[in-house]
Amino acid sequence: MDDTSRRWLKHVTPNPLIATATAARQKAFAPFSHFQVGAALEAPDGTLIPGCNVESASYGLTICAERSAIFRGVCDGYRCFKRVAVVTDTDTPTPPCGACRQLLWEFAPDAEVLLANLKGDVVKYTVRELIPGAFDAKQLG
Ligand code: THU
Repeated sequence: MDDTSRRWLKHVTPNPLIATATAARQKAFAPFSHFQVGAALEAPDGTLIPGCNVESASYGLTICAERSAIFRGVCDGYRCFKRVAVVTDTDTPTPPCGACRQLLWEFAPDAEVLLANLKGDVVKYTVRELIPGAFDAKQLG
């Protein structure tokens, strides 16, 4: 089994984190790209925090699902998350963008990342794998 196939879990048993991200995806506001993304974070106490992408007519002010979940979690008082799921309606699961990887590194450095699509494909990574050599507060001295 090669590295890629080891990451793929086809039709895993129902997973509450993925279910939360799937439900959040329905709330996405994506009138410009029509690309709806749902995310969910698991806090250390087990609380599941949903997020979805919210687009702006200015395009650049759009917020991704992953960051909307992180900011929501921080507003709720959490500072660290242990797992994250991202759900899209695509042939293969969608990886987080660079900006979201940076924020995940800062708020969930040890998290497991579950990337899923609506067909039930799930690919597993860790945040550490997705952003090697990351910039963070340590560089600020
Ligand atoms: N998007 C996310 O929500 N997460 C990502 O990691 C990649 C992109 C959103 C932003 C935008 O609303 C749409 O997908 C197309 O880029």
